[in-house]
Amino acid sequence: MFLFISRPTRTLGYRMREVRERLGEDFTAKLDELHRNSLRTGLVSKQELEEAFRKTRDIDHNPNRLNLIWLVGIIFFILVATPVFYETISFLLGVRCFLPNNYLVWEATRPISDCEFCKGVRAPLILANLTREEFAPHAYSSLPIIVKKAVAHWPAQKDLNYAYIRDLYQSVPGAIEADCQFQHFNSDLKSLRDVFALSPERSNLSQGAPWFVGWSVCQPAVLAELRKLYPRPHFLPVDAEMPHTDFILMGYEQGAVMHLDYIPRLMWQAQLKGNKSWFLAPAPECDHQCQPFSFYVEPGDAVLVDTRLWYHANTIPKGQFSLTVQSEYG
Ligand SMILES: [Fe+2]
Repeated sequence: MFLFISRPTRTLGYRMREVRERLGEDFTAKLDELHRNSLRTGLVSKQELEEAFRKTRDIDHNPNRLNLIWLVGIIFFILVATPVFYETISFLLGVRCFLPNNYLVWEATRPISDCEFCKGVRAPLILANLTREEFAPHAYSSLPIIVKKAVAHWPAQKDLNYAYIRDLYQSVPGAIEADCQFQHFNSDLKSLRDVFALSPERSNLSQGAPWFVGWSVCQPAVLAELRKLYPRPHFLPVDAEMPHTDFILMGYEQGAVMHLDYIPRLMWQAQLKGNKSWFLAPAPECDHQCQPFSFYVEPGDAVLVDTRLWYHANTIPKGQFSLTVQSEYG
């Protein structure tokens, strides 16, 4: 420590004056004496003193040290400023999340597929309406399945429509504002409030642009009322778990864009109104072993797809209104 105030050079002398001013003449005089004694007794050499001085000087001007300070500062800024910025923007926009859950993040974090689910699959398995026992061998397959006319007897196929759903939501206080998952896909409708505020002409597409939306029915009173119009599909295993929410998808033409579902169970859909085309594709890492393919379902059909494994997209024929109830089992 004391070695850095020795005087091997003129620069060192200037440095020493600085130190004297800071520490006081008395203290530095004692250090000078200690230096002289060290040199005289051969405890250290002049070169060693100069080297020690250079190291001390470099501590003050070490670029690595400066870089470290910058790095710590940047990390601190990100940790503190980012949440503050996010909360501020969310508050100003009056929304809970101004960055939506997006497929880029999901895609970046999904596990790599082993491709076993798609090898040799070129089309869905198409089954005629069948009993639970007949369906049992296929119950937990990742093979896409259509069960023809499986839900054609549901009251929902006749009674459920845009106006029924709108009136139901408007009759339950707080249902439209409930914090349930909402997907607007490519449409300009950003919330259930927008969906149920459509003009009659836009809602039946006699005017305006096509729209397609989907949302989770997580509001218990609404879900209970809707489930009076549809049971669970009769062919599913009796012990299969069902979630406490269902999903409604409805609209025109656009359908869902290609995506994976991040859900815990297998998916079933009941196609209540309109035809819908499905496009399935394996994960990109399976392109050399598997192939994409498409199929369509008709009103009354049930479709089962492991949408956690198969990338999927939908389109609806021009001018047709599609209404689907979706849920999970497993
Ligand atoms: Fe999906």
